[in-house]
Amino acid sequence: MDKSKGLILVIFGASGDLTVRKLIPALCDLKNQQLLPKNFAVLGVGRTEMDDKAFQEKMLNGIREFLSQTPCAIANDSQEEFLSKLHYISINTSDSNDYARLKQRLSALDSQYNTSENYLFYLATPPNMYEVIINNLGSHELNKNTVPDSWKRIIIEKPFGYDLNSARDLNSKVLKVFSEDQVYRIDHYLGKETVQNILVTRFSNGIFEPLWNRNFIHHIEVTSAESIGVENRGGYYDTAGALRDMIQNHLLQIVALVAMEPPATSDARSIRNETLKVFQSLRPLTETDIEQNVIRGQYTASTIKGKQMAGYRDEANVGYCSKTETYVAMKFFIDNWRWSDVPFYIRTGKHLPIRVTEIVIHFKPSPHVLFTKETGVPMTSNQLVIRIQPDEGILLKFGMKVPGSGFKVQEVGMDFHYSQLSDKRLPDAYERLLLDCILGDATLFSRGDSVEATWSFIDPILKLWKEKPQTKLFGYPAGTWGPENADSLIDSPDHTWRYPCKNLTADSNYCEL
Ligand code: BG6
Repeated sequence: MDKSKGLILVIFGASGDLTVRKLIPALCDLKNQQLLPKNFAVLGVGRTEMDDKAFQEKMLNGIREFLSQTPCAIANDSQEEFLSKLHYISINTSDSNDYARLKQRLSALDSQYNTSENYLFYLATPPNMYEVIINNLGSHELNKNTVPDSWKRIIIEKPFGYDLNSARDLNSKVLKVFSEDQVYRIDHYLGKETVQNILVTRFSNGIFEPLWNRNFIHHIEVTSAESIGVENRGGYYDTAGALRDMIQNHLLQIVALVAMEPPATSDARSIRNETLKVFQSLRPLTETDIEQNVIRGQYTASTIKGKQMAGYRDEANVGYCSKTETYVAMKFFIDNWRWSDVPFYIRTGKHLPIRVTEIVIHFKPSPHVLFTKETGVPMTSNQLVIRIQPDEGILLKFGMKVPGSGFKVQEVGMDFHYSQLSDKRLPDAYERLLLDCILGDATLFSRGDSVEATWSFIDPILKLWKEKPQTKLFGYPAGTWGPENADSLIDSPDHTWRYPCKNLTADSNYCEL
């Protein structure tokens, strides 16, 4: 990076949770690794009245509480220096007049830090504020590059839209003010080291890619389970649900990386073109497909190991007869040459037994059974398990001969855990994404056309659930693996969902592959 090029990160929603939990700790980690330019400052923007000092104190508490694995040296000079670069301005973000003050403050900071008017705007506000903020930035010309070689970029948090129409509408409003190459739509799953490793696993190993198609793969499974419920986000979640919150973005992005064609180069354009093609190849779901292949569930009250767990409808700010889904499992197909007739199964849910996100590639069994397990049944097919979190790693399951007489087969695994790389820590997703945006690399951000393509796929489900509210919503006791009906989605007698870490408790964060 050209460190002489400074910048100001302008965070809208600076008094909110995301800033203190994720953004500032991520910046602090970047600073520790000397990855931030020397001329760097943050301007927090919010309605809450605060001066710089109060903002710095609030952020310091966040750093102490939420910083990832690298201990941020709170006491030393570099820490002091980092904190001194955090500034704050209180404005009414809906009031266009207030942006004149914002512009003045930015220009003063620009002179103080010599940042060549490079501004990175981060929208960490509720989504209903996006449009007004973007318009106001535009009307005060804060979208324009006024100094030669300077840049203005904007990061927009998810959810990007609420359905296809609103996503299209938002895209068109954003693009009236900023050009596509200035816009960074964030999906924090793409910032996860292990998600990026899907590309490396596939495209830098000669052994996997020849097998990565309908000829050798039986089906693909993606699970993203959370042990927590909706916590204090009931108000937001009740208007979103698992389909909008997790499937439209995080899970479909994972599917795209697993299913995409090899890009011609590793640049943002090639990679994003290939992920878009996957979304465009998703077989549209008919009403019958949705009724048969999309299962929604909602957690109900339960007692786990003596601990009372509230049902979803008892959570704060959730409607008492809410039909919002906290669990979705679905089956679908990608209609292209590579994946013809290979089913994809994905599922996500809150208050499942453990937190785990993993991809399982189920290979086809050997064509002719010579050897069986001791129980007399054939070896289950080979599986490649890519563990995104926690206990990140990769496991290849295969059959080996049981030592001794005869030819009995036992399933064993070749197992790699990131924790074995003793000298490497896994950077937090926000750390990677903020740095990429500072460097102008949009590879790990969603392009407008992709976001619309994922909404196009999801929209018929949202519509059907709205038009037919009687569509089954299965209850599942909090702390279990979701509705049992999801098991019947996998229509092969030899397969079920993989239930990872079966023996672990909900509060364990370690989950052996
Ligand atoms: C967010 C969702 O995007 O992702 C949350 O809004 C969810 O509901 C979270 O809990 C999961 O992220 P992670 O990184 O903890 O798997």
